[in-house]
Amino acid sequence: MKKIVILIVFPVITFIFSYAFAQTAEHIHKPHPHKHKQYAKVKNPIPMSEQSIAKGRKILEKYCTECHGEASKGNEKTDLTDNLWIHGDSDGEIFHVIMDGTKGPTPMKGFKKELTKEMRWHIVSYIKSLKKTGGTGQ
Ligand code: HEC
Repeated sequence: MKKIVILIVFPVITFIFSYAFAQTAEHIHKPHPHKHKQYAKVKNPIPMSEQSIAKGRKILEKYCTECHGEASKGNEKTDLTDNLWIHGDSDGEIFHVIMDGTKGPTPMKGFKKELTKEMRWHIVSYIKSLKKTGGTGQ
């Protein structure tokens, strides 16, 4: 009897634990790109000019490189120059991340208080200028 319990219960418990663990691990290591449609529609009201890009660069270097690294290259989640956009690649979605931050296992705080709307849009222009391969959004 004891043997049967071990034979049945042990694999079941192992399975449950490994499943739960795999879920957690995947959650941390595999970011799932998604869109925020309601923000994607919002367009940058400030024309993407050299001036705006230069302003955005200055602001980003002051507030963001601590986590997003030199030339904005961090890991795949914080790399702002690659083509992987976890929270969407449109102007409005990037603006929204800067304003409200993100939730999740490695969240980013929002910069609603520190940065004015205008400053956030300049950053969007700068980030867009960094993209090497371009995205689906504009
Ligand atoms: C304290 C660390 C930290 C600071 C400071 C920070 N970020 Fe982030 N940022 C993160 C992390 C971590 C993520 C990934 C979060 C996630 O995927 O949920 C992220 C994600 C992002 C994303 C989304 C990238 C994507 O793939 O969709 C953008 C855009 C972004 N940050 C811009 C900025 C800007 C602009 C600033 C400065 C105003 C800034 N961040 C400052 C940590 C930071």
